[in-house]
Amino acid sequence: MLQKQPFEPTFDDKFATIVHDLCTQGFSIYDHFLSPLIIHNLAHEARSLHENGAFRHARIGHGRSLQLRPEVRNDQILWLDTENPSAIQVPYFQDLETLRHAINRNLFMGLFEFEGHFAIYPPGARYQMHYDRFVGTMERLVTTILYLNDHWQECDGGALSIHAGNTQTDLRLPMDILPIAGRLVTFISGDFPHEVQPASRDRISLTGWFRARP
Ligand code: OGA
Ligand code: MN
Repeated sequence: MLQKQPFEPTFDDKFATIVHDLCTQGFSIYDHFLSPLIIHNLAHEARSLHENGAFRHARIGHGRSLQLRPEVRNDQILWLDTENPSAIQVPYFQDLETLRHAINRNLFMGLFEFEGHFAIYPPGARYQMHYDRFVGTMERLVTTILYLNDHWQECDGGALSIHAGNTQTDLRLPMDILPIAGRLVTFISGDFPHEVQPASRDRISLTGWFRARP
């Protein structure tokens, strides 16, 4: 885990809170990160693109070793074009830029760019325990997951389960996080093994990673 750095709250509250939690525990859960209207529009956009067949079955691995392994992961994803975002995506991408600068400034991480996709887990779909940082690469440094599911309840399932890795943390693990609309989960990608539990309804998110220079 990263060394703790003195924290300077020089950004708006929500960014300062997330950066503080990343500094102290490598992990942050921030509710109401965006307004309900923006969240609603993002969910609507994801659902219409999905209905139009724009999503693909997610694969695991990276580079040349990408594999379809539905027993490990059976969500469907659509990669986003961060250079040409839709009008609906712009406010979130702007906030991610602010967050990227805030993290770089306070945790000295050198985050260089963001890559992200919409993900839809149909009922019963899951993603088994994994790390987001690929073995032998340093590219994915910080994971950000924005949930887009209105009225999500515990009985709907679909929790993100965070498990203890090899890194020392003050968090009480394992921990289950519900994918409720407007919740942003941010964590140091290499520090926490995690899994997505099956749900009884569609589960939608905008998931991404801040990367180092390749
Ligand atoms: C992933 C992932 C978690 C979630 O896409 O790598 O772990 O809660 N997603 O959607
Ligand atoms: Mn993951």
